[in-house]
Amino acid sequence: MKPQLIFLGAPGSGKGTQAARVVTQLGYEHLSTGDLLRKEIKSGSELGKKVTAIMDAGNLVDDLTMIELLKANCDLDGKNYIFDGYPRNKDQSQVLDNEFLKGVASKAIYFDIDLDLLAERLINRRTCGDCGEIYNLKSKPPAKAGVCDKCGGSNLQQRKDDNEETVKTRLGVFRDTIEPVLAHYKAQDRLVRVDASKESDAVFKQIKQAID
Ligand code: AP5
Repeated sequence: MKPQLIFLGAPGSGKGTQAARVVTQLGYEHLSTGDLLRKEIKSGSELGKKVTAIMDAGNLVDDLTMIELLKANCDLDGKNYIFDGYPRNKDQSQVLDNEFLKGVASKAIYFDIDLDLLAERLINRRTCGDCGEIYNLKSKPPAKAGVCDKCGGSNLQQRKDDNEETVKTRLGVFRDTIEPVLAHYKAQDRLVRVDASKESDAVFKQIKQAID
């Protein structure tokens, strides 16, 4: 069995982009806590209403809500997961180990990149509202403006939290919270750093090496 993967990295470091490749090429399931929260908001659920303002401001949702969300969406039985966006702090790392992984082999992949490079990536991100394909107006534009290369839909959207002010907050929150998370995995020899400033194929190659 391949190791469960935990993707750690700043907003815009490429976690979602690489998760899509790992799903298609290596048979993993993608569990993105950000995507799950956005789904709740779209559905108009009570949980969605509760987290809208927090996410719009670029702050973290409380730990108890995140545990409930994971419990409702994660069943490790026989599956290989990519945990993308969880954990965000040391307490969440411990919850993931004790309540979900429970000793199952896992690796934490840290998308290491200079934070100063990320605002531009995020502000230029567009995501297909139909199939989820991720684009970038500068580094990965669709072949035809406004049309998804993958599904042909014309529903490319900008995320609400990808504006200059919220991006600044999100990067600040990341800077303030990541070190204890990295220390947690480093102490257990489960941390692999990948150079996330490289182009997408080179980042994927590093992730594949970490899994093998
Ligand atoms: P979440 O959805 O997890 O967002 P994030 O962590 O801010 O990460 P992003 O999805 O923005 O970035 P990414 O690394 O996936 O980058 P991508 O591949 O798209 O969280 C959103 C919010 O939900 C949080 O702010 C919080 O409120 C809440 N939340 C979620 N989890 C939580 C938790 N556990 N606890 C509490 N709250 C939680 O790439 C970005 C752009 O860069 C794209 O345009 C892409 O094309 C481009 N790009 C990607 N790779 C490259 C490359 N190698 N070279 C050039 N461009 C690239």
